[in-house]
Amino acid sequence: EIASQAQQLLLGMSLEEKVGQMTQYDWGFNPINPETGVSQRDLLVEEIRQGRVGSIFNLSGAEEANELQRLIQEQTAQRIPLLIGRDVIHGYKTVFPIPLAQASAWNPELARRTSEAASREALSDGVAWVFAPMIDVSRDPRWGRIAESIGEDPLLTSKYAKAWVEGSQIDDGAGLATASCPKHYAGYGLAEAGRDYNTVDLSDRVLREVILPPFREAVESGALSIMASFNEINGIPVCANGYLLNTILRDEWGFEGIVASDYNALHELIVHGVAGSEEEATERSVLAGCDMDMHSGFYIKHLPTLVREGRVPESRIDEAVLRILAVKIKLGLLEQPYVTVPSAEEAAAARASFTALAREAGRESIVLLRNEGPVLPLSKTSSIAVIGPLAESRKDPLGCWSFDGNPDEVVSLLEGVRQAAGAGASIAYAEGCAIDGDSEEGFAAALEAARAADVVVLALGESQEMSGESRSRTSLDLPGAQRRLVEAVAAAGKPVIAVLLSGRPLALPWLEPLADAIVQAWHLGVQSGNAIADVLFGDYNPGGRLPATFPHNVGQVPIYYYRKKTGRPPAGVYSSYYIDSTTEPLYPFGYGLSYTQFEYGSISASSQAIQGDEQLTVSVTVTNAGDRAGEEVVQCYIRDEVASVTQPLKKLIHFSKVHLEPGQSAEVAFIVRKQDLAIIDQHMNLTAEPGDFTLWIGPNASEGESISFAVRA
Ligand code: IFM
Repeated sequence: EIASQAQQLLLGMSLEEKVGQMTQYDWGFNPINPETGVSQRDLLVEEIRQGRVGSIFNLSGAEEANELQRLIQEQTAQRIPLLIGRDVIHGYKTVFPIPLAQASAWNPELARRTSEAASREALSDGVAWVFAPMIDVSRDPRWGRIAESIGEDPLLTSKYAKAWVEGSQIDDGAGLATASCPKHYAGYGLAEAGRDYNTVDLSDRVLREVILPPFREAVESGALSIMASFNEINGIPVCANGYLLNTILRDEWGFEGIVASDYNALHELIVHGVAGSEEEATERSVLAGCDMDMHSGFYIKHLPTLVREGRVPESRIDEAVLRILAVKIKLGLLEQPYVTVPSAEEAAAARASFTALAREAGRESIVLLRNEGPVLPLSKTSSIAVIGPLAESRKDPLGCWSFDGNPDEVVSLLEGVRQAAGAGASIAYAEGCAIDGDSEEGFAAALEAARAADVVVLALGESQEMSGESRSRTSLDLPGAQRRLVEAVAAAGKPVIAVLLSGRPLALPWLEPLADAIVQAWHLGVQSGNAIADVLFGDYNPGGRLPATFPHNVGQVPIYYYRKKTGRPPAGVYSSYYIDSTTEPLYPFGYGLSYTQFEYGSISASSQAIQGDEQLTVSVTVTNAGDRAGEEVVQCYIRDEVASVTQPLKKLIHFSKVHLEPGQSAEVAFIVRKQDLAIIDQHMNLTAEPGDFTLWIGPNASEGESISFAVRA
């Protein structure tokens, strides 16, 4: 029915109106032409009136959204509502933890709830299309956009891709109300040297084994659109890459939604050097399978002529427009283009529940990296010196891509600690130094505060602007004078708890001897301080696990657990090693501590060999041997020992997060199916080859017991 409604609409459209549907503009980009005095927005309104625009993004609020939809209804011939988009990456007004933090919860269901909440908030402002989730497998912490990702692993990213797509596409029973836009298809997370937008060169094998599975999962989960990335892959920028957009996405996976370009990416085809003119860029991209042009304006400017000249068949335009119309129909925009603004009471109730969810997500995202003594949790009757440039900040915990968040609504670390400690504790505060300044002026006051306290909480890390798009770094150290601040404060001889608020894994091996505890708290959003205080005082037992490897130094990067053995595994001279560094990570993938201890029993397996479609069940008993309730993420990895193509040393195939009361045990079972063992063989077929396998169950990628089993021919 949707298809025939779309067909009906198409029949009444001129070529220009059709191409208008394929055209999207940034409403927030509004320069004034100095010569004419005319603003970009005035021009855009005129374009909309003429039916030459199908989508806009970066608009601010329900009123503006309704005004534009009214313009369409009252002044255009076809009255096809705009698809209004927005980067709703980790929350809208209620900002949740950055995606890399949410990934640390190893809890896709939590991400389903945060993404649904974000979409609901955005929809109440007229945004029906959220540009999320970001599912680029990211293996380079220098890349600022690792903050928006689910980290380094294809399986973990795929699980989040499914939950995030389903969560962000609101379905209240009467059909979908919002569309997701998984991005950036594909390979954007593997930019050379971690420099944003840089060249990506990767084999078809790595593409299919590592990069594509989360996108395939997103497609199978019903994503209504996909964003094509800026980068080139193997010489062809994605917006002109027919292999990625037509062959894989459409022909192999049967994707029927919209493929949108990234911002101005069609213009960048000229800069990449694969198109000599705007016309050529337009032709290449539309023929390669890109349906919507984000902001370059090339489609509306050139496509009608290219069709008339016979360089682009009109059937290709019809195909793209039908996809766009189908999404608008599915979202109910044709029946109801206007958004209903919730009453003040409804808005307040929704806000309160989203804020509670932000605290829950915040504390579940925290990873305890070290706890000597144990110095944590803190007592609420201690005298605590809270020191550091991120202690009072309300802006930085919002993290990248949070322009709808309000720093005034953020609970800072200092506020969170003060509120949680209550009257019983005495809390002193000293900034110590700026996040990225060289001055040591504040060191003396910080040292004095440390000397007068029982314990020091150091709030360290990166500013909001140091991660996200176009925020690559060559150093993974703390910026500015922060390291010197730690050294100065440690001289007081008090127990030190370092809380790291960052948008990426940092390489801080020097911190271990100076800090009794290290808490990775990322950028946690509006409830940052409360979530951190919940963990510091033990009101919540941390259960987060790293979704990306933490290196010792930048020279090790890219470093990830899913690596190959090589012909000469690291073992000293003439092996694959460094003369000046270990090859091991500082903290491995999957790592994280708890205030309790979990003990693993031996692995039992249903059989030692499987054949055909048989499955293997493996299980282990996990016991909470400590005196606090807590959560353990039980991880299952495999290795195919001998295969027709080299295989990673370990590959995550399953995980399960279990909650255990003190003394409680649980049996955690995983079913190993043929598809878990499948590899892309030397002929590029997906197949489980017969042979020997090793399987581990453990608390992270570097630990755990193993068993062997065989797959028989
Ligand atoms: O959605 C984003 C994308 O992630 C990066 N370039 C800009 C787009 C729209 O803001």
